Amino acid sequence: MNPYINEHKDRFLAELIEWLKMPSVSADSTYKEDVRRAALFAKAQLEAAGADFAELCETAGYPIVYAEKMLSPDLPTVLVYGHYDVQPPDPMNLWDSPPFEPVIKKTALHPDGAIFARGACDDKGQVYMHIKALEMLLRTQSLPCNVKIMIEGEEEVGSRNLETFVAAHKTKLHADVILISDTSIIANDVPSLEVGLRGLSYVEVEVTGPNRDLHSGVYGGAVDNPVGVLCQMIASLKDTHGHITIPHFYDKVAELTATERAELNQAPFDLEAYKKELGIQEVFGEDGYTTVERTGIRPTLEVNGMWGGYIGEGAKTVLPSKAFAKISMRLVPHQTPDEITELFTRHFESIAPPTVQVKVTPHHGGYPVVTPTDSVAYKAASLAFEEAFGKKPVPTRGGGSIPIVALFEKELGLKTVLMGFGLDTDALHSPNEHYGVFNFLKGIETIGLFYKHFAVLSKG
Ligand code: BES
Ligand code: MN
Ligand code: MN
Repeated sequence: MNPYINEHKDRFLAELIEWLKMPSVSADSTYKEDVRRAALFAKAQLEAAGADFAELCETAGYPIVYAEKMLSPDLPTVLVYGHYDVQPPDPMNLWDSPPFEPVIKKTALHPDGAIFARGACDDKGQVYMHIKALEMLLRTQSLPCNVKIMIEGEEEVGSRNLETFVAAHKTKLHADVILISDTSIIANDVPSLEVGLRGLSYVEVEVTGPNRDLHSGVYGGAVDNPVGVLCQMIASLKDTHGHITIPHFYDKVAELTATERAELNQAPFDLEAYKKELGIQEVFGEDGYTTVERTGIRPTLEVNGMWGGYIGEGAKTVLPSKAFAKISMRLVPHQTPDEITELFTRHFESIAPPTVQVKVTPHHGGYPVVTPTDSVAYKAASLAFEEAFGKKPVPTRGGGSIPIVALFEKELGLKTVLMGFGLDTDALHSPNEHYGVFNFLKGIETIGLFYKHFAVLSKG
């Protein structure tokens, strides 16, 4: 292990644990003060690491933490992006230890231990690697390029205020490349670099039947039930072959060539282990595509939550007036969130029977992205992984979304390198989220090596 990391690893972990104790849940305003505290912590840590300055940039929502270490205008500049906000911890009863009281425990995939806490992997643990990599390079006089770091507090709620900020600070954010650690590798002995992310269209639907909740005996059988109607409408959105039935949904989907698909499927993937880890007997998805393709290069539609009628204890006989669902669609090139939201809305309204009324409300969205594999920055990342892990990283397509990546390209004209170190099995957004100690320390090392290779390769 790198000697600086080895000497300071216990302190690195202790500091990260302090940060993870702050419940920076952006979706829930009861955590408002904690979110701000987490921002202040990041600012202080960036100052302590040796940044020229660190500041809180106020927005209409939570502040953006920004810091710089500028060595020379002649050197290349890397803009690091990450987020200090985390997902809500619920359901609380499914956590083996409290989400904001971090503990280190060994797991089968993390024999060196993993930190269990909300945000451990997504994304505080991964952001903290960047702060510590900066500290390491400055203390050992080996930072070879300029670094700008931008950490936002609203990623998990759709980065509402980020576009305005980026558009208003183009000079400040001027850089040669964006570096993000907020994605996964295949396994700790199979390093990989994500080269694509899916886009997102997120909608909420409301189905209204009678003007009030009714007695399910007095009216049942004569008045249509919005919960049943919503179930049927949702069920009809996918056929038995896993195809989405919304007209024109696939019109813009970029089809990969047979060679590209073969390449993608070369990435090591163990279907049996995948099913076992999830506790499922069989996978399900679009006919004609492998699991890796279904999450990487094909769009999907998923119900994220659904409710209506009586869901309290015991039985209440009621025919509900309303039913609701939250639905997300993951998009691939060249689908666009606005167009897909529009197609969904039109279709959903058209399939509603005359017994109900439907309302579709769009939430946030994001564009899909594919990042280059022939750039200097990708090559630097690949060399960094190879040096740190002893293996060349495999390019993969991630199923998740980071909408800011497309925005950086649009506003700043910059490409991104997705250099994440989590595992898909680290339970991001789920109870018992964790991040491997190995991944955390290896990440710091790899980030340091990225800067080294990026500076060398940029000289041409
Ligand atoms: N870090 C994730 C995205 C991710 C996870 C990408 C794993 C690739 C692999 C990010 O924090 C996230 O959760 N994004 C949201 C979208 C956002 C608009 C709320 C998502 O993907 O659901
Ligand atoms: Mn994230
Ligand atoms: Mn997330």
